[in-house]
Amino acid sequence: MLIRSFREEDTEPVVALWQACGLTRPWNDPYRDIARKLTAQPELFLVGEVSGEPIASAMVGFDGHRGWVYYLAVHPTHQGKGYGRMLMAHAEQLLIERGCPKINLLVRAGNHAVIDFYDKLGYAPDAAVSLGKRLIPDQ
Ligand SMILES: CC(C)(COP(=O)(O)OP(=O)(O)OC[C@H]1O[C@@H](n2cnc3c(N)ncnc32)[C@H](O)[C@@H]1OP(=O)(O)O)[C@@H](O)C(=O)NCCC(=O)NCCS
Repeated sequence: MLIRSFREEDTEPVVALWQACGLTRPWNDPYRDIARKLTAQPELFLVGEVSGEPIASAMVGFDGHRGWVYYLAVHPTHQGKGYGRMLMAHAEQLLIERGCPKINLLVRAGNHAVIDFYDKLGYAPDAAVSLGKRLIPDQ
C-alpha cells in the first residue's frame, strides 16, 4: 500500500470507503468534513492506495498539544493485511516529526473490535470523559 496525502479526485472513493466501513453518520456530512480538512493541515489527510485505488484513509491533525486521528478506515476487502497498522505507524511518524507528544482518538461506543485493534498498536483508554458541543450543524 502506498500512503500519500489526499487529492481532490479522491473525494468520491473516500466517501464510499467511509460508507463501506460504517463511519458516516447523518450529523456529519462527509463532503463537508473533507472540505474542512482541506483548510487545515491538508497534508495530514492520508490516503492509502493499492494498484492506484484508494482503499484506506486517516484524517490526522496536530492541534499544538495533541495529535488526533479521525476516519481511520481500511476497505473491508483489504482488512486484516496490516494496512491499518501501517497507516497508524505513518500517522505517528508524521506527528513525531511535528513535535507532537501524544495521540488521542475517539472510538464510538460499541465499536469493540476497533478497541482490540488499537490495543495491539499500544493504545490504552485514558481516564477522561469525552465532551462535545456542536458549533456548526451540517444539516
Ligand atoms: C480498524 C481497521 C482500520 C483495522 O484495519 P486492518 O487493516 O484490518 O488492521 P491490521 O490488519 O493492520 O491489523 C493490525 C492488528 O490489529 C488486529 N486487528 C485488526 N482488526 C481487529 C479486530 N476486529 N479485532 C481484533 N484484532 C484486530 C490484527 O489482528 C493485527 O494484529 P497483529 O498485528 O498482532 O497480527 C479496520 O478494521 C476498519 O477500517 N474498520 C472499520 C472502520 C473503523 O471502525 N475505524 C476506526 C474508527 S475509530
